[in-house]
Amino acid sequence: MKGVILAGGLGTRLRPLTKITNKHLLPVYDRPMIFYPIQTLVDAGMREIVIVTGGNNAGDFLRLIGNGSDFGLKHIHYTYQEGEGGIAAALSLVEPYVHGEKIVVMLGDNIIEGSIRKGVAAFRKQRRGAMVYLAEVDNPSCYGVPVFRNGRIVKVEEKPRRPKSNYAVIGVYLYDSSVFDIIRKLKPSKRGELEISDVNNAYIRRRRLTYRLLDGMWLDAGESHDALLRANCRVAKHRKIQVPDL
Ligand code: DAU
Repeated sequence: MKGVILAGGLGTRLRPLTKITNKHLLPVYDRPMIFYPIQTLVDAGMREIVIVTGGNNAGDFLRLIGNGSDFGLKHIHYTYQEGEGGIAAALSLVEPYVHGEKIVVMLGDNIIEGSIRKGVAAFRKQRRGAMVYLAEVDNPSCYGVPVFRNGRIVKVEEKPRRPKSNYAVIGVYLYDSSVFDIIRKLKPSKRGELEISDVNNAYIRRRRLTYRLLDGMWLDAGESHDALLRANCRVAKHRKIQVPDL
């Protein structure tokens, strides 16, 4: 199984911070944002990771992460996304690197406190299909939101105005290799992007999407300036550093 980190896009919501650097290189407490998803994947047993980046500062990833040996990685690959075609468009670029294996995908701005090891182990045994992670949130309209019927997810709605549950589909996705065929058939959404929620909906239509609830904290550090500040404080607090209450 290979790890994938999606760190493309232009980070426009975090301007001017992202005018001269990539969002995923911004600091979250004492390390660059992208270190968190790398560590999560390494802790879940990944020894080979593909990073998709983009924008004007893609070379900085190589300077920062190099060959991945600081994380104990065996191989690291980098690929480049032109523009901002969406999360699924970024994911399509890793197909040549994964050679038909299953993949564990993390969004480069997602930070989780717990481990995804158990989910990865369960997905190794799942013959095919996909698995997503859910977290309970106060503001579901900012995320992909699962719609449940009889305990099953029957749909994922992307940033719905009236969310049908209090859960977010977080940026950790486990896919079999049919994901690339699914992406080839996707049409851009109203905002002109290939949406990851549409990938998950394609698995739902095939009745091949399972889910798990995440244990512990989840942060989407790249959502806004406030979210980035909160992420800094939460991570610092988690490391028992005294920070003022906001
Ligand atoms: O954080 C979880 C949420 O992430 C999910 O609940 C949503 O369903 C999913 O669509 C996504 O929503 P965001 O609005 O937070 O996505 P954002 O545009 O911030 O992109 C998240 C990461 O994906 C970003 O850090 C880099 C990567 N990305 C994004 C785009 C648009 C790419 O690599 N290429 C892209 O073109």
